[in-house]
Amino acid sequence: YMLKEIMEQPDAVSRTIEPWIKEGRADLSEVLSRDEVKNLSRFYIVACGSSYHVGVVAKYNLEKLARIPVEVVLASEFRYCNPIIDKNTLVVCISQSGETADTLEAVREAKSLGALTLAIVNVEGSSIARESDRVILTKAGPEIAVATTKAYSTQLAVTVLLALYAADCCGTLEKTEYDAVLNELLAVPDKMKQILSDKENIQRIAYQHFDNEDIFFIGRNIDYALSLEGSLKLKEISYIHSEAYAAGELKHGTISLVVKDTLVIAVASYGLLVDKTLSNAKEVQARGGHIMGITTESLRERVAAVTDEILTIPDTHEVLLASLAVLPLQLFAYYIALYRGC
Ligand code: M6R
Repeated sequence: YMLKEIMEQPDAVSRTIEPWIKEGRADLSEVLSRDEVKNLSRFYIVACGSSYHVGVVAKYNLEKLARIPVEVVLASEFRYCNPIIDKNTLVVCISQSGETADTLEAVREAKSLGALTLAIVNVEGSSIARESDRVILTKAGPEIAVATTKAYSTQLAVTVLLALYAADCCGTLEKTEYDAVLNELLAVPDKMKQILSDKENIQRIAYQHFDNEDIFFIGRNIDYALSLEGSLKLKEISYIHSEAYAAGELKHGTISLVVKDTLVIAVASYGLLVDKTLSNAKEVQARGGHIMGITTESLRERVAAVTDEILTIPDTHEVLLASLAVLPLQLFAYYIALYRGC
């Protein structure tokens, strides 16, 4: 089921975004009025596990496009963090199942504090969908594998729609930039197909690494958010010990865990920060670690010069990098688990 669901992602993303694109714009006015969005003082994004990781990517994108502050909080922490909420706060709860107890409790807490709540859920009629003020359904279809893949991708696509819609309402984005992001969002399903058609290459690389006992992921900004998801997926299904770090944090202690041949996956897809991440990759190599780079086609040469092997994704707008780069990470985890007989 996991492989089947990985392969279903292009269609799942198309189905999810299609109802919300009207006359060349991301239009969520059926769910949130333009005035409600204009008056927002802040977003909270609340979720667990992979759905939380979607929130970590969404924070970068929402703040970048709409210039509204975003707090991303683990649902299990939300009730205890004394959130600063008023009627102009939108609490976005993300959940595939719509039944995760901590996320449901977060919806209740947010409502009791007077916030407007928006659920991004995959299961119509689920508890979180019923109890939230507003709902956007992801159209991933039933997700049978416990390791989420297509739900993650559809949730991410909805958060990009939300960022575009909020930017439109608040007038924070030039038309050319708006069009560039929207066009790249529409291109995601085809670019995903391109990555999936190369899955044998990822399988070949996974075969070389399936007997590792520790695998680290590093990245900066959205690449860090992606590292969190890559690491979770890998440990969840392969039982390999794995950690994800913001690349700049390595030198503050963690680097001592890197010894000869430790595999470190450097997610370096974000052009603006690629050299910074590569400088951390060099620190890993200085200790004898083995670096696998994940980057875009146009950054291939720069990243290949520093890494021991490389996987690439098609070029896209930075807001959509996570939507593409998560696929090789899912496939890598899947094949590693398969080779380990998990
Ligand atoms: O159904 P939810 O999205 O609320 O579930 C939250 C997490 O349990 C979930 O995302 C979990 O981390 C994934 N199954 C990991 O692959």
